Amino acid sequence: MRILISLFIIIFATGTSCLNNDLGKTPAMGWNSYNHFGCTVNETIVKGIADAMVEYGFLNAGYTYLNLDCGWSNHNRSQINNSLIPNPNAFPNGMTDLAEYVHNKGLLFGIYGDAGTFDCVNNPGSLGFEELDAQTFAAWGVDYLKYDNCNNSDISPIIRYSKMRDALIATNRSIYYSICNWGEFDPFIWGHEIGNSWRTTVDIHPSWDSIMFTLDQQRNISNFSGPGGWNDPDMLEIGNGDLTFDEQKLRNPPNDTLAIALNEKIIAINQDPLGRAVEIVEFVDGSYEIWTGILSDGYVAVLFNRESIASYITLNFETHCDIHGLIAVTDLWDADPFKGNYSFGYTAQIPSHGVIVLKLQVVKII
Ligand SMILES: *[C@@H]1O[C@H](CO)[C@@H](O)[C@H](O)[C@H]1NC(C)=O
Ligand SMILES: *[C@@H]1O[C@H](CO)[C@@H](O)[C@H](O)[C@H]1NC(C)=O
Ligand SMILES: *[C@@H]1O[C@H](CO)[C@@H](O)[C@H](O)[C@H]1NC(C)=O
Ligand SMILES: *[C@@H]1O[C@H](CO)[C@@H](O)[C@H](O)[C@H]1NC(C)=O
Ligand SMILES: *[C@@H]1O[C@H](CO)[C@@H](O)[C@H](O)[C@H]1NC(C)=O
Ligand SMILES: *[C@@H]1O[C@H](CO)[C@@H](O)[C@H](O)[C@H]1NC(C)=O
Ligand SMILES: *[C@@H]1O[C@H](CO)[C@@H](O)[C@H](O)[C@H]1NC(C)=O
Ligand SMILES: *[C@@H]1O[C@H](CO)[C@@H](O)[C@H](O)[C@H]1NC(C)=O
Ligand SMILES: *[C@@H]1O[C@H](CO)[C@@H](O)[C@H](O)[C@H]1NC(C)=O
Repeated sequence: MRILISLFIIIFATGTSCLNNDLGKTPAMGWNSYNHFGCTVNETIVKGIADAMVEYGFLNAGYTYLNLDCGWSNHNRSQINNSLIPNPNAFPNGMTDLAEYVHNKGLLFGIYGDAGTFDCVNNPGSLGFEELDAQTFAAWGVDYLKYDNCNNSDISPIIRYSKMRDALIATNRSIYYSICNWGEFDPFIWGHEIGNSWRTTVDIHPSWDSIMFTLDQQRNISNFSGPGGWNDPDMLEIGNGDLTFDEQKLRNPPNDTLAIALNEKIIAINQDPLGRAVEIVEFVDGSYEIWTGILSDGYVAVLFNRESIASYITLNFETHCDIHGLIAVTDLWDADPFKGNYSFGYTAQIPSHGVIVLKLQVVKII
């Protein structure tokens, strides 16, 4: 029995190709057109976003990818050679030109495709055209593919998403591969072999219920995330619902939006080179939850108040973090972040629907 099992593992390890593209060592950061522009996007908008990402410090803060979502494609493939082509009214200068514009800003360029016969707004899907479409994306200078799941003919996602993985590998271009099958069929189990990340849920919306629904789906699976392959709970919803700017906001993004999206200390937690996701260690349904994790240079604890009133939450270093001694506590959202040294735990008052993120460092072992 043991021999059989080992053999299976070896065959599995060598018999399937692995993505192994050296991308996604830390979670991808960037901007995606969907939350603000839906499936109506054009090259003027994208170029304006590229300018704004540089001007407002997003690129410097680590938001490297500018990703086009649905709506860029022409309704039909090329009648000459079957290639995907951009909608000529919205992208009169074509994708190579747009990718070059984005690259010249120091950003990377992402695009959207679909692992089905048609995408979600009935533009052509890539099922059966994987090699041709991967070559088209590579020729355009694409660096990231978000690959959706509409009209999938009920074919196993493992088959459909592996085909595009192989096609992307065959282009020899480094393309971050984002599996977007809405968490169906537990992609956190098989996603590591296929993509750099996998959506764990249906689409997020800028509402508290949607964000809580999405968060609750992460509770049992955070330990499947890691360097090269990440759980993707969908996009951030910051400011006016998202990280996007309409043309007015392009010139004047709200400062509170910038303060959240550009918080260096929080980004450093997200991009910690160890790549260990936080795990839930205490959960009182509808009341509060505590998530903790290990960093390359300490520990992190997230204290989250789900109540409709402010309340006190206590972090216990030993039971919640498995650390002992004198602990230096830093509150990463606080303007005056260092909170002092504590021996057993740390208690904070947290506003309704509020969260604090603490960085913990052992300063003395007792
Ligand atoms: C465009 O594609 C649709 C299928 O989506 C097809 O019915 C139609 O005939 C095509 N139009 C042209 C001009 O090829
Ligand atoms: C395929 O045809 C389209 C025009 O329909 C053209 O823009 C594109 O360059 C062609 N692709 C290749 C690889 O020749
Ligand atoms: C893109 O959309 C904006 C806003 O709707 C519009 O002002 C602009 O002219 C459009 N550009 C193109 C190339 O369609
Ligand atoms: C493709 O998927 C979308 C979204 O689910 C759906 O509205 C559309 O009808 C589907 N297209 C076809 C041809 O079935
Ligand atoms: C990718 O690289 C391999 C090995 O160097 C080469 O044989 C192959 O032709 C390349 N493919 C493309 C699409 O450039
Ligand atoms: C997480 O696991 C627990 C215990 O196995 C289970 O009761 C709960 O429903 C799971 N939650 C989710 C969101 O899967
Ligand atoms: C994650 O945790 C679950 C339950 O605690 C366990 O079944 C699973 O094997 C773990 N996965 C990994 C990749 O460690
Ligand atoms: C936003 O911040 C900038 C730079 O710190 C400042 O000049 C501007 O007045 C602020 N705007 C508002 C509305 O607070
Ligand atoms: C916290 O502990 C460190 C190490 O012992 C010490 O250097 C520092 O002064 C202490 N800070 C406070 C505010 O007690």
